[in-house]
Amino acid sequence: DRYKLWGGCFEEEPSSVLRRLNDSLGIDSRLYREDVKGSKAWAEELHRSGHLSKQDNDAIQKGLDKVEEKITEELYKNGKLNDTEEDIHSVVERRLTEHAGEAALRLHTARSRNDQSATDTKLWMLSSLKRIQNEIIHLISVLVKRAEQEIDTICPGYTHLQRAQPIRWSHFLLSYAWSFRDDVTRLEEQRIRLSSCPLGSGAIAGCALPIDRKKLAASLGFQNVTPNSMFAVGSRDHIVEFLNWASLCGLHLSRLAEDLIIYSSQEFKFIQQSDQFSTGSSLMPQKRNPDGLELVRGAAGILLGDAFSFSCILKGLPSTYNKDLQSDKEILFRAYDRLLDCLKVTVGTVFNMKVDVEKARSLLEPGMLATDLAHALVRRGVPFRRAHHLVGAALRRAAALDLDLQQLPHLEYVAICPEFGTEEELMKIFSWEASVEQYTTEGGTSRNTVLQQIQELNQWLHGN
Ligand code: ARG
Repeated sequence: DRYKLWGGCFEEEPSSVLRRLNDSLGIDSRLYREDVKGSKAWAEELHRSGHLSKQDNDAIQKGLDKVEEKITEELYKNGKLNDTEEDIHSVVERRLTEHAGEAALRLHTARSRNDQSATDTKLWMLSSLKRIQNEIIHLISVLVKRAEQEIDTICPGYTHLQRAQPIRWSHFLLSYAWSFRDDVTRLEEQRIRLSSCPLGSGAIAGCALPIDRKKLAASLGFQNVTPNSMFAVGSRDHIVEFLNWASLCGLHLSRLAEDLIIYSSQEFKFIQQSDQFSTGSSLMPQKRNPDGLELVRGAAGILLGDAFSFSCILKGLPSTYNKDLQSDKEILFRAYDRLLDCLKVTVGTVFNMKVDVEKARSLLEPGMLATDLAHALVRRGVPFRRAHHLVGAALRRAAALDLDLQQLPHLEYVAICPEFGTEEELMKIFSWEASVEQYTTEGGTSRNTVLQQIQELNQWLHGN
């Protein structure tokens, strides 16, 4: 017979279709370790406060270890649990009766699945967020390492996807490293709020037994206890925060993916994706498609949808626990899994891709030095707005003669403005290296300022 946590006053069984909608074991069995851990701590605290004998507590502690062991085995073997109970809390409790007998019937004293499930989920998040954080840190270290190795590679920098100015390839890579660094910081900030333990809040009103919630929380690794039992069982703000955070992180991954997809297209072609992280076409033998990056880009949309759908679930709920909340885990787990895979694919892609240095250089063209020409005039005292117009005139003149800026004769330049200087001075401007080396203020693309960024990120990585 199915072990039931409730039903004493019911005459009939729930309909099979309700059971299908209601049962969550397929999803929350993932929380079995947390459920066992929380239950062990709860039994300890019941015992400490005089509501569970030493003998019963011992039976429960040993029994729960057995339960965990068995579930681990079965999940390893079958990938799922075949129990007929509705959720993992019921399964753990029923299985405990097999090992601990009568003592098992005392475990749920003064506890509700409302505070239990909230606690399990938070415990899971505390360790899982750490795993995601480590993967982001891995990605940052791969970006920084490449930036170090490829510091002298210069490529076009784009705004509006139009050639803008030459930049160091490293500067581009680091621009993403900084976004991900901020993602880690945001994740750490969430952990402060996440780390308050709901256990001891009961179903809604709190706990009528004099248990020590602070001790209990500390034994589970939480920093704090939730300050209000209704808030504890009804709030899923930590999940909302995580989902929104995940969608922002996904958005960063997606933009990086988009850049790399563009740079590896035939029209740009200064990046080549590795075999491991690209795929071919079933029809066209020549194809090398960036499917991994495209999936990452698509996943960002799914993550945004997950964050949105969960907020939609919450927005009209009356206070405290409602069954609508059960979907929290389904959404949380799938967002987490997807983001973790995307991070790993991005790490692999960035680590393995090849940069064609010559090709990157060949995409640079003298028009991208127009800003530098204007700056040269500014250094000779010409007001910037006028300098901008004068370089514009040079561009127009060059176009009329079907020349690029570098080919435009010196005579033409000085006819537009004598401050363009001698031919030698003018020609010095037409160097990609000289161009990027002008940007020496903090955060710029000169060698030193890029090295400074690398040093700062490396320091941060060492501290993590
Ligand atoms: N499986 C439920 C969940 O995850 C557990 C809480 C059930 N509580 C209740 N009052 N029905 O949300």
